[in-house]
Amino acid sequence: MSLKERIAILISGRGSNMEALIKASQKPSFPASVELVISNNPDALGLDRAREYGIATQVIDHHDFGKDRQAHERQIDAVLQAYAISTICLAGYMRILTSFLINHWPNQILNIHPSILPLFPGLDTHAKALDAGMKVHGCTVHIVNEIMDQGPILGQAVIPILPNDTSLTLAKRLLEQEHVLYPRVLKRFLRGDEIETTADALING
Ligand code: GAR
Repeated sequence: MSLKERIAILISGRGSNMEALIKASQKPSFPASVELVISNNPDALGLDRAREYGIATQVIDHHDFGKDRQAHERQIDAVLQAYAISTICLAGYMRILTSFLINHWPNQILNIHPSILPLFPGLDTHAKALDAGMKVHGCTVHIVNEIMDQGPILGQAVIPILPNDTSLTLAKRLLEQEHVLYPRVLKRFLRGDEIETTADALING
């Protein structure tokens, strides 16, 4: 019997962070196994990728629930329970959770956000960092609570902003760090290790 924690990943799109978590979880020493990928978007590219790894996938399309966001989350919750999931990782899941799911999974939902939170919550974080004249940019893994992108920070990675950076180049370089940070932080979180609040990685430009 596996002693690994049973993880579900929620995605809406490409799923590159999902893939980084899946790859990390395949190592015997990693304390979690990815048992389920749920997407709210039937066309999410990450669904095919998850299936290639032999991971169960479920599409729970929010359009099927109209404006009833809680009904959508009740369905997600039922599937999570059916798979005996213990921790949920949001990985490019572009829906704001309601208090329903958050209260059902207290301190069990993690998210990765592409900024040095609490700076730049929400969308278009790379453009916001450039517009603000930042010299560094980064990503944050945090616990999801009721305030969007403001839950307790578990780890951060920082990269320099280079003179010719655009939103695209910045997003691409940052994504590489996201793929390193998320598995590292998840591993530490599941082991109950001391939480680092300092930067996890600082890449010199
Ligand atoms: C990632 O950059 C992730 O940090 C971001 O969406 C991208 C998903 O890419 N998440 C958010 O903006 C959440 N607010 P992926 O699907 O390839 O992992």
